Amino acid sequence: MLEIAVVIPTFNEKANVPTLVARLDQALAGRRWEAIFVDDDSPDGTAAAARELGRIDGRVRVIHRIGRRGLSSACIEGMCATAAPVVAVIDGDLQHDETLLPRMLDLLQHDPALDLVVGSRFVDGGGTGDWDRDRVAKSALATRLSRKVLKGDLSDPMSGFFAIRTDLARRLAPDLSAIGFKILLDLMTASPVALRFAELPYTFRVRTEGESKLDHVVAMEYLIALYDRMFGRFVPVRFAMFSGIGVLGVGVHMAVLGLAMLVGTTFLPAQIMGAVAAMTFNFLLNNTLTYRDRRLKGLRQLLDGWVSFCVVCSVGLVANIGIAAFVHDVRNSGVAASALIGILVGAVWNYALSSKFVWG
Ligand code: GDD
Ligand code: MN
Repeated sequence: MLEIAVVIPTFNEKANVPTLVARLDQALAGRRWEAIFVDDDSPDGTAAAARELGRIDGRVRVIHRIGRRGLSSACIEGMCATAAPVVAVIDGDLQHDETLLPRMLDLLQHDPALDLVVGSRFVDGGGTGDWDRDRVAKSALATRLSRKVLKGDLSDPMSGFFAIRTDLARRLAPDLSAIGFKILLDLMTASPVALRFAELPYTFRVRTEGESKLDHVVAMEYLIALYDRMFGRFVPVRFAMFSGIGVLGVGVHMAVLGLAMLVGTTFLPAQIMGAVAAMTFNFLLNNTLTYRDRRLKGLRQLLDGWVSFCVVCSVGLVANIGIAAFVHDVRNSGVAASALIGILVGAVWNYALSSKFVWG
């Protein structure tokens, strides 16, 4: 009977595929296992390389995804695609220590109370290999932040190397955010009850082939996911980003206004220039960050989007001023309070209408 599936998310890891399969074969000798590569149509032909091995060795399977990207979502898909009772996730670049797999499996097989086993770099005997100080610091920060949303005292919640009971993973799958890299953290926080875990130490190896896909976008997605878990119920992520960008836009407005007046423009045209610059800045930033999943592309779409965004914001400004004047003059509220209420109403208006008419 099949004992364990090893899910391997890959993007451009062709050179690592044969080595990894050979090492799995060695590490899991005597166990009944399958490997599931989940590849996002890597341009280097990773999927084809894995399929080639699969023709010789039936234990090697490939899920070839077209038109999609994402480490977490790849892992989820792989975990849901096996009949094995235990499923492990391991990086495809040989940085994780596959010799831990049989011990992970033993622990889960012998202790029915255990939900998952995590490979940890931060328990005795583990380590981060030859990371530079910068990466150690960033990883430590990400780990500290994650503690705020985590149920349970996991030493390495950023680990991408673990084994879990498949039925549990499948049960949690609908509640996973599936964004970014943090599949383990996601599983832990999606569960309504604290999961029971064990940790095994390992040393993160150096990557010798290919390159890391962890970049600024991934880091940002991580922060967004954390925010969502902590405050998403109260203030939606998108609205928070939209408002934050709005605040930056005020800075842009002031800078352009000041600059224009410095070179001799009179107030009214300078004020208009400031407003147009701020709206353009906000439109572009919202397009790349807040609505990156529905991003407008190409000159035509961008131009249309920009015009509707300016229209929405102009009406928003009228609403802002109208409401502020109303609470100030009619309800006798203080100046600052009236202004803030106006700004809030304007922001909600801009957000609600632009999400429908600009990025709808
Ligand atoms: N299918 C798929 N789609 N696979 C991906 C994608 C993607 O969009 N992005 C990355 N991968 C695969 C890589 O090919 C590799 O096998 C694995 O996911 C890890 O990606 P790396 O790009 O090598 O990440 P890393 O080494 O910087 O990060 C690792 O360490 C982190 C802890 O510091 C990963 O294990 C992370 O999960 C972990 O948090
Ligand atoms: Mn890696």
